[in-house]
Amino acid sequence: MKTPTVNSVTHPSSTHFLLFVFSILFAYACQRTEATAQELLKGFKATPNASVSSFQALLSDSTDTFSLGFLRVNPKELALAVLHVPSSEQLWLANPTQLAPWSDRTQLFFNGSLVLSGPRERLFWSTETQGDRVVLLNSSNLQVQKLDEYVSILWQSFYFPTNTLLENQNFTSNMSLVSSNGLYSMRLGSNFIGLYAKFNKKSDSEQIYLRHKALEAKANIIEGQGAIYARINSDRFLGMYQVGTIPPVDMLPFNSFQRNITGFVFLRLESDGNLKGYYWDGSKWILDYQAISDTCELPNPCGSKMGYFKVREGAGKKKMDVGFGVGIGVLCGAIVVLIGAISFGSCKIWMRRRGVKQILEDEDGISPGPYKDLASASFRSIEMCNARR
Ligand SMILES: *[C@@H]1O[C@H](CO)[C@@H](O)[C@H](O)[C@H]1NC(C)=O
Ligand SMILES: *[C@@H]1O[C@H](CO)[C@@H](O)[C@H](O)[C@H]1NC(C)=O
Ligand SMILES: *[C@@H]1O[C@H](CO)[C@@H](O)[C@H](O)[C@H]1NC(C)=O
Ligand SMILES: *[C@@H]1O[C@H](CO)[C@@H](O)[C@H](O)[C@H]1NC(C)=O
Ligand SMILES: *[C@@H]1O[C@H](CO)[C@@H](O)[C@H](O)[C@H]1NC(C)=O
Ligand SMILES: *[C@@H]1O[C@H](CO)[C@@H](O)[C@H](O)[C@H]1NC(C)=O
Repeated sequence: MKTPTVNSVTHPSSTHFLLFVFSILFAYACQRTEATAQELLKGFKATPNASVSSFQALLSDSTDTFSLGFLRVNPKELALAVLHVPSSEQLWLANPTQLAPWSDRTQLFFNGSLVLSGPRERLFWSTETQGDRVVLLNSSNLQVQKLDEYVSILWQSFYFPTNTLLENQNFTSNMSLVSSNGLYSMRLGSNFIGLYAKFNKKSDSEQIYLRHKALEAKANIIEGQGAIYARINSDRFLGMYQVGTIPPVDMLPFNSFQRNITGFVFLRLESDGNLKGYYWDGSKWILDYQAISDTCELPNPCGSKMGYFKVREGAGKKKMDVGFGVGIGVLCGAIVVLIGAISFGSCKIWMRRRGVKQILEDEDGISPGPYKDLASASFRSIEMCNARR
């Protein structure tokens, strides 16, 4: 019986071809592991490669999960960045406000300091250290270390976060998270986490729009005892701690808290002013926490208008400046009412009166989340309109 040559792998030329492909892949893999160093020593130099379109890796951690390299930001500019390799997510930028040109005259070198320099000795960024090596830890923390009898840390990226706080990174009162558009920032107060908005990019004046005061359920803050810091715990909560005491003075649980889920976690101050937590499930980032769940409570939800801020106090529920809230409430209210009025033309006059009156009543009563009430009030109005028909 004649056997048809269905399995082409057995064909000699195909075998050769496969071997050829494998050897190329193998060579490529070797080149890749060779190309991304695990430490940078004095004398290290790198320039951006014109043919790289997105990211040029220069240093990676021992697990190959994180990588430091040149990230193309605008077509012709670069930031020195730490990425989460499987997702290409940016976790840290060295020079977010001073991008360097993607040109062979830009250079990253290590001479004791890790330095990003440009043409004519222009200095974009430097760690200003006298260290022996640069390493990227498996937590994504980039460190300049001195190697004496002990390894000492002269500089670390965990002290200089951009818009992202990583798992186990200590967020202290001398740090801030700044959203990538520069409008929002997160800082610690003596007993609270505050989110602040800038009215105007050129002026320094800021307005607090979210203030989460420590609940002090497991431990009290003792005045004069030590500074407050915050950290995302691997157990999936944002904890506030006082230096010198072990139990947290506050715990903001993520959705996956106590759900036996593992995976790298980070917290990010987004460009809309929201603070969101994510974890990596092995193939994608899962939203695991958001400080503001109602979009109407974001500092800037109703158009590109600045100056109306809803001031919300997280746990304390103390009365704050309500004027801003009324402003934004009326704006959001007007939009909701307008949409309602268009969809349900026959009831529009009745609804507008009813909707706006409802917000003002709620604001007088200072109930948290008046916008949710507004929305449900409007829906009630709509249902009533429908019922009357
Ligand atoms: C630049 O990148 C290309 C493709 O990634 C590579 O073939 C080339 O060797 C690189 N050039 C230098 C100078 O590293
Ligand atoms: C490293 O280079 C920077 C920038 O050129 C320079 O300012 C610094 O003094 C150098 N450091 C050492 C230890 O040579
Ligand atoms: C990360 O590094 C630390 C210490 O260097 C080690 O204990 C830990 O197991 C490492 N984690 C992973 C996921 O490799
Ligand atoms: C964060 O702070 C804790 C307590 O002070 C300390 O044990 C830990 O090493 C710090 N983590 C980092 C990454 O610096
Ligand atoms: C910030 O404060 C901590 C102590 O709370 C200190 O260890 C650290 O060096 C400070 N960082 C900077 C950049 O000043
Ligand atoms: C958590 O999940 C892992 C597997 O995903 C399982 O082996 C382990 O027993 C679980 N632990 C608890 C406390 O449920």
